[in-house]
Amino acid sequence: MKKKLLSMLLAVAMVATMLTGCGDTTTTTDDTTADDTTADDVTADDDATADDDGGAASGEVQVGIVLPTKDEPRWLQDQAQFEAILGDAGFTNQVLFSQGSSATEKTNVETLISQGIDVLIICAQDGSAAAAAVEAAKDAGVTVIAYDRLITGTEAVDYYVTFDSFSVGVAQGQYLIDNAPEGTGIPLYLYAGAATDNNAFIFFEGAWSVLQPKIADGTFVVANSSEAEGLKDKAELSREEIGKIIGQVTTDWDFNVAKSKAEAHLTAVGADMKGDVLVLGPNDGTARSIADVFATDKDVTSFKVTGQDAEKASVQYVIDGKQSMTVFKDTRTLAADSVAMAVSILNGDTPATDTTYNNEAKDVPAKQTNIVVVTQDNVKEALIDSEYYDASEFTGLE
Ligand code: BGC
Repeated sequence: MKKKLLSMLLAVAMVATMLTGCGDTTTTTDDTTADDTTADDVTADDDATADDDGGAASGEVQVGIVLPTKDEPRWLQDQAQFEAILGDAGFTNQVLFSQGSSATEKTNVETLISQGIDVLIICAQDGSAAAAAVEAAKDAGVTVIAYDRLITGTEAVDYYVTFDSFSVGVAQGQYLIDNAPEGTGIPLYLYAGAATDNNAFIFFEGAWSVLQPKIADGTFVVANSSEAEGLKDKAELSREEIGKIIGQVTTDWDFNVAKSKAEAHLTAVGADMKGDVLVLGPNDGTARSIADVFATDKDVTSFKVTGQDAEKASVQYVIDGKQSMTVFKDTRTLAADSVAMAVSILNGDTPATDTTYNNEAKDVPAKQTNIVVVTQDNVKEALIDSEYYDASEFTGLE
């Protein structure tokens, strides 16, 4: 018991350290399937950190993490934070990637269950398809924490750790409003995330909450979504209505889809929808693709494009003036919050939460983290001074 307490104190201290900021870490795992226990050298306190009534035995994995894909820098950032925090805290852990497949995701969860995990931290590939995977985990007595993306339509989600995704959308929309050219009838191109990701709806809802009045009064004209134009007088959209718009402007969170949609949209519109334009870019990867397309259209004289995630490549784009803004979601905090939850759970306590999110089956207790808008003006302060990145990783910062 003494050992357990010591281990707990160490774990909490490590989480607290992470919360006050530390440098970026390198990734140590890039395998998709379950053949790589990332912190299996940190097993010393297995017996101490697991519940007395049957937690992980020595050599087993205590905390399993499933992330959607290693093809987007966003999730490698999260992986690095998890491995650093959990490893330092003395928890055995394993990070697996679903690589865009719900089937792989389910196999990953089953693999982790078979390795004896007590806590599953999962960012779903597809929020509704993941229900089956987490139900299997619950059946095996595992506590399930939905990470960043909510898993919908099931009671098998114990907790949700997330950024304030509505605010992300608001920040993107507000940026476009604050930086719009003078006049009315300004072309607005809307893009969204994947329809399988609950967040895509929340981001869009946030953006719509500020953009809609400007579309309704004719300041902006939606260039690429007849559904959005048709709904312009509605301040609040139903999920189904948002789904219709997303159906037209989804990027699927895929750079190539974003690129080809942007090309098709610019080919389809007349000269009146070019000139100085605004683009709601849903995240950094897709924003860079879309920005590259808009930058090569000679009839687009200027464009503002939003993003999110503060991916390194987009931070460079922001510095270079090729992407207008990004939203910094500090993965150190999100990972640390999840680990703090895991610590509570492993210790038999109830984790601290500050809100709830309804997942269509229940109100899931949630811990929510704020976001920071990053533009050329504050890039150094937000990302370098906070030690998220090192200045040497970029050019033209001074
Ligand atoms: C995340 C974003 C990410 C997107 C694509 C969303 O659920 O919140 O940060 O850019 O998925 O992976």
